[in-house]
Amino acid sequence: MPSACIRGPLNVVWSSTLPSAVPLASDADRVAMMERALARERQAREQAEHLLETKSRELYLVNEDLKLKNSQIEKRNAEIERTNHALMTTQAQLVQSEKMASVGQLAAGVAHEINNPIGYITSNLGTLQSYTSVMNELIAGYRQYAEGVRAGNADESLYLKLQEIQDREDIDFMQQDVVELVADSLSGSVRVKDIVQGLKSFSRVDGAECIESDLHAGIESTLKVLANELKYSCEVKLEFGKLPLVTCNLARINQVFMNLLVNASQSFEAPGIITVSTRSDDAWVYVTVSDTGCGIPEDKIGSIFDPFFTTKPVGSGTGLGLSISFGIIEEHGGTLTVASEQGAGSQFTIKLPIQQT
Ligand SMILES: Nc1ncnc2c1ncn2[C@@H]1O[C@H](COP(=O)(O)OP(=O)(O)OP(=O)(O)O)[C@@H](O)[C@H]1O
Ligand SMILES: [Mg+2]
Repeated sequence: MPSACIRGPLNVVWSSTLPSAVPLASDADRVAMMERALARERQAREQAEHLLETKSRELYLVNEDLKLKNSQIEKRNAEIERTNHALMTTQAQLVQSEKMASVGQLAAGVAHEINNPIGYITSNLGTLQSYTSVMNELIAGYRQYAEGVRAGNADESLYLKLQEIQDREDIDFMQQDVVELVADSLSGSVRVKDIVQGLKSFSRVDGAECIESDLHAGIESTLKVLANELKYSCEVKLEFGKLPLVTCNLARINQVFMNLLVNASQSFEAPGIITVSTRSDDAWVYVTVSDTGCGIPEDKIGSIFDPFFTTKPVGSGTGLGLSISFGIIEEHGGTLTVASEQGAGSQFTIKLPIQQT
């Protein structure tokens, strides 16, 4: 259909398809053309209105759909928030139960360590008690004999009886043994005192705050607490460098030392070596716990810091030790990294800032 349009006054009609010399149309023709043009315009308007209505309806439907989706998203968000909250509660409970497990482990180790010296101190005191009664009997007898000698009538039969007691009880051995029993008991009580002191500085019950701390003292008190657990499975070597005081929560850092040392001690199939080494540079200190244990397979090393990841038999590991340790070091602005070779051993490195910013 040729395109046509109307411009200017009604009697000027121009069509692109007509030669310019065409005679002017009659009034009736013009009216008819106008009517056709108006009809086309009406039709176009109707079409436009119809389109507008369709689009409005579509828009309304899309809008309703969006509203529905929005409310679904809101519901899902609320659900996620609830789950998140439940997860946070569970995590807090788990951290608490890991702490309790460490405390339980600690208590068992400490009880054993204290029990040992207390056991031989008690037995030594029993022996000293029986020696004392023999010695008291002899001293009383010799006093009586001495009084007889001074009075000029020495009681020879008493003397013989005392000699017999001396031989029977092996008084020479007794005298020598008393010295050893007392020395052993003294060293046992010093050991108990050391353990209690180690425990006190390990747990620093009052120390929830970050203060300048001696990491070497922390490592040593942790080793004292773990002495019982470690002594059968490994030898511990300390390669301490020069460390400045480090601003940290030592009780929490000790918990990390404990987790790393226990993991290392559990990595041995046969007795092995754990080496704890330390060094520092201008802003950081580094503590490395290496073992000559089983190592970590390549396909597992990416998961060891995940909560609940454990390769230990059911009931013996919660799989939280490393994830909690990682969190503690991260809280201090440091890093905890691992290098391991299966069959050769593992090396965990703690990097801590000297100052907290
Ligand atoms: N020194 C190590 N040598 C070999 N494997 C290790 C060592 N340290 C950690 N792992 C591996 O990483 C896993 C996770 O360690 P993590 O300390 O988090 O948990 P766990 O020791 O299994 O249990 P938990 O510490 O809660 O008692 C261990 O099960 C073990 O497979
Ligand atoms: Mg562990």
